[in-house]
Amino acid sequence: MQYEASGKRLLQWRTLEMAHDVCPWWIGYWLASPIRKLFHNPRSILEPFVHEGMTVFEPGPGMGFFTLEMARMVGKGGLVVAVDIQIRMIENLARKAQRQGLSGRIDLRLANPTGMGINDLTGKVDFVLAFAVVHELPDAGLFFKESFAVLKSGGKLLFSEPSNHIEQSVFDKSLDYARRAGFKVESMPTIRSNQTAVLVK
Ligand SMILES: C[S@@+](CC[C@H](N)C(=O)[O-])C[C@H]1O[C@@H](n2cnc3c(N)ncnc32)[C@H](O)[C@@H]1O
Repeated sequence: MQYEASGKRLLQWRTLEMAHDVCPWWIGYWLASPIRKLFHNPRSILEPFVHEGMTVFEPGPGMGFFTLEMARMVGKGGLVVAVDIQIRMIENLARKAQRQGLSGRIDLRLANPTGMGINDLTGKVDFVLAFAVVHELPDAGLFFKESFAVLKSGGKLLFSEPSNHIEQSVFDKSLDYARRAGFKVESMPTIRSNQTAVLVK
């Protein structure tokens, strides 16, 4: 696991958090709670996309509701790279990964103000999970460009946003950014309480 927080970087992150509507860290506990499995079953959501040996990129993992399941699904030969802007999310997720013996399959990183810091992954990623996160990013266009660059040809991105506080027009605008980055919309599957698209490179 790689993450570090110098004073200067923390200040930059705090400024970014204030400038955008970032989910408060304590909501991370609810988002990662087992009760959520009653309406978002991570394994059945991920099963069509995540397989043994894959490299997965997950922006905004929070406290790891999907991350830990994906780490199990990619197996010993796979890797999940998870990048969050909040150190508390990263630290909580790091502890859980340690307890569950999954640390070796999860590369945890702190986002920086200019992007996800994933240039080293160019062309190496099989799948991107962007669940309830794009609306919090300062630049959705940049995010889709970065994701397009790291994905292998034919790689997929599952883009899902909560319907209760993200308007259809905002979701559609994000899809426009994705198309401009080069993605094609493959399908619009149903995930309860969310609006969702599968994008393909
Ligand atoms: C609503 S939570 C969703 C967490 C997780 N995807 C889930 O569905 O349980 C959004 C997450 O995105 C993170 N986030 C917000 N802005 C970010 C940024 N610029 N870069 C990376 N992560 C960010 C937040 O810290 C938070 O953990």
